[in-house]
Amino acid sequence: MPFELMTEATADKPWGGRFTEPTDQFVEAFTASVSFDQRLAEHDIDGSVAHAQMLHHIGVLSEQDVNLIVQGLDDIRAEIQRGDFNWSVALEDVHMNIEARLVDRIGEAGKRLHTGRSRNDQVATDIRLFLREQLDVIVDKLVVLQTALVNLAEREADTIMPGFTHLQVAQPITFGHHMLAWFEMLERDKQRLVDCRKRINQMPLGSAALAGTSYPIDRPMTAQLLGFDGPTQNSLDGVSDRDFIIEFNAAASLIMAHLSRFSEELVLWSSTQFNFIELPDAFCTGSSIMPQKKNPDVPELVRGKTGRVYGHLMSMLTLMKSQPLAYNKDNQEDKEPLFDTVDTVLNSLHAFATMMPNLKTNRQAMYKAAQQGFSTATDLADYLVVKGVAFRDAHEVVGHAVRIAIDTDRELAELTIEELQQLSPGIEQDVFKILTVEGSVASRNHLGGTAPEQVRQAVYNARQRVQNQNR
Ligand code: ARG
Repeated sequence: MPFELMTEATADKPWGGRFTEPTDQFVEAFTASVSFDQRLAEHDIDGSVAHAQMLHHIGVLSEQDVNLIVQGLDDIRAEIQRGDFNWSVALEDVHMNIEARLVDRIGEAGKRLHTGRSRNDQVATDIRLFLREQLDVIVDKLVVLQTALVNLAEREADTIMPGFTHLQVAQPITFGHHMLAWFEMLERDKQRLVDCRKRINQMPLGSAALAGTSYPIDRPMTAQLLGFDGPTQNSLDGVSDRDFIIEFNAAASLIMAHLSRFSEELVLWSSTQFNFIELPDAFCTGSSIMPQKKNPDVPELVRGKTGRVYGHLMSMLTLMKSQPLAYNKDNQEDKEPLFDTVDTVLNSLHAFATMMPNLKTNRQAMYKAAQQGFSTATDLADYLVVKGVAFRDAHEVVGHAVRIAIDTDRELAELTIEELQQLSPGIEQDVFKILTVEGSVASRNHLGGTAPEQVRQAVYNARQRVQNQNR
């Protein structure tokens, strides 16, 4: 219906024709999404350009109309980029704002753009375009962080530190090995995103409001123009489901879970009690009352931000549950959680990617800590096994040795050969070599082990893996 024919009441609304009373002021503000969905503007324009070109291809739009539309949308894009676009709450959302502006600029032809589509397939397409783009940026950022970790692992391949279980000193490990554990977590995070992208990259346009359209549209053509792998296969599903956002949000939650774990370790390690590392000054702040303080704010904040991403996952799951087919206005609530998830994950990854290359390690403190807590007790047990003692018996012998060491306030390597031989006669002088932390880490020399030689090999492999990826 031409806009001039609308009733006074809702003359400013593209859907105003059947209304006789104006929209309640509060309802207008309550139902509007333009304050946040204007972030989709450029994707909305991309979708409209492709749609118009397809309509021309099938003979529904004249050459003249399509040229006017494409030019008009380009000009609007420029207006938006310059910050000159006048967003109107009365026009509800990004889609109607842009369309109304197009009609302003080019007249009649602008009114023909919405042929054979609906805001329902339009918005479903826009968020997929947005998410596809942002997902690629996140994947790139993950790779930057992974690369920083690999470099750190190479630099610290020989650095000995205590490894923990239950946060109790367990066995000596290398710092490089520890960094590569983080690398592996991020690798799986990346693979999850790459896999999720396949389901994001399907085009709902053509589903129209819910049932498709009576025009002879060429959906594969529009899909190709927009870089989608293909059109979605069912119009009801295409406009309504947001499972791809939930999936992305779940993957994002795991990224945050991992970053939160890294954060926790950085916070612990930079404390005076551990003193394993020093975070760059640029990533810390001081205290307004305690002059000596240097607080690890950035890891703490990343750890804290994990909560909001989990929250968005829960919002999205709850948003989707119980919705009958097809589109419901509920789905307008998908955007803020999605945008905030993307921003939070990107900022957190960026913080880590710039912080890690400047991390200082305190090798001496880590070395000393690794020597404490009887970290080579397992090595002693393994030594006894080689000498013919059954592992369970060996375990008990070493338990006694640890007891003596505790009672006399010594480390295992400080027990005398006589004391050790009393516990197990097979022990010889060579035992002291395996009781050192260097001997302990060097002996774990197999794929996935902590030996410096393995760390160097793993660094090499990691670089190959990162380079050979294509999404
Ligand atoms: N602003 C809406 C959203 O974000 C666009 C689709 C509106 N469709 C409708 N039939 N009201 O979901």
